[in-house]
Amino acid sequence: MAHKIGVIAGDGIGPEVVAEALKVLDASGVETERTPFALGAEHYLETNEVLPESTLEELRRLDGVLLGAVGDPRVPPGVLERGLLLRLRFELDLYVNLRPVKLYPGVATPLEGKGPGDIDMIVVRENTEGLYSGAGGVQARGTLGEVAIQESINTRHGVERVLRYAYERANARPRKKLTMVHKTNVLVHAGDLWSRTFDELGALYPSVERDYSHVDAACLYFVNQPERFDVVVTDNLFGDILTDLGAAIAGGMGLAASGNLNPARTGPSIFEPVHGSAPDIAGKGWANPIACILSVALMLEHLGESEAAQRVEQAAVWTLGKLGGTAGEAMGYTTQQVGDMVAESLG
Ligand code: NAD
Ligand code: IPM
Ligand code: MN
Repeated sequence: MAHKIGVIAGDGIGPEVVAEALKVLDASGVETERTPFALGAEHYLETNEVLPESTLEELRRLDGVLLGAVGDPRVPPGVLERGLLLRLRFELDLYVNLRPVKLYPGVATPLEGKGPGDIDMIVVRENTEGLYSGAGGVQARGTLGEVAIQESINTRHGVERVLRYAYERANARPRKKLTMVHKTNVLVHAGDLWSRTFDELGALYPSVERDYSHVDAACLYFVNQPERFDVVVTDNLFGDILTDLGAAIAGGMGLAASGNLNPARTGPSIFEPVHGSAPDIAGKGWANPIACILSVALMLEHLGESEAAQRVEQAAVWTLGKLGGTAGEAMGYTTQQVGDMVAESLG
């Protein structure tokens, strides 16, 4: 039966990269029945709506969603990011943000002397709690007495389920190493909950090697010892920041894919590039669609189409080997040409 896929192309380069990713999805031969959702800046500016309740209900009934990017300079920061993207992550309970950091052969890394064998990890980012919860508030806004509070929410339930997922993931990989990244030396309340839960669950996975890094040191190691990492598990904000760094060491933002997963499969998971709407290059035809194409591969894997997922990944890797650079103008090809190359090499 055809998989029911929702498509939120979104803003900026979102529609440009999504068009190529869908081309590749079609070339994969996997049958999908697709529903486009015109959400994002244009829809908001026209209607003042960000994510109507009825649309959310429609999305709940799908098997998967492919999302390009949201965010537009004409819309105040947070309106679309919180109101659309984060709301979807929270409402659909997509508690795992899976972000592979993998240097493919032939792709340039800024890290001198490092190759594909050194940069091959999966970051498991908690995706429904932490500083992203929105808890807090403002008093006396615009006065000298202004107070702004932004709280980090960490529940035993939320921390345990994402750690458990990360242990399972690590256990299934050859190296079986799981590194928790946090800031337990400063964020003592949340850090204590994360550490205790990490250790308690660790006892259930004796074959998984456990490691811990403070997030500042982890940034250092991502650059000078990326080979330390196999599976990394971390909270929402640290994971957001670390995975842009991960994208940088693995060839750039144009290559970094992600899945917002509902591991319990009580609803659809959402697949999207790690990058945003890139207003600086939108409309130019330079955006690299590989991140979105690799997100399609993650989606196929989640839908149980492992063989097709592997073919899409291989086609993307083959194409990467042909590109002059990995992002923007440096690619030497347009967004469309790269999409065509991947689609053709699949066929
Ligand atoms: P960004 O990821 O959009 O861009 C960062 C840099 O990377 C820019 O120089 C951009 O040109 C480059 N880049 C990004 N994707 C690329 C691609 N596919 N090919 C080549 N170069 C690429 O981050 P930003 O500029 O901080 O944010 C822009 C907007 O996107 C903001 O509104 C932000 O909130 C939003 N955003 C959305 C998402 C999402 O939808 N998942 C993620 C991040 C940022
Ligand atoms: C990402 C983005 C989002 C995040 C924003 C746009 C809400 O940066 O997917 O990495 O912070 O999670
Ligand atoms: Mn981000």
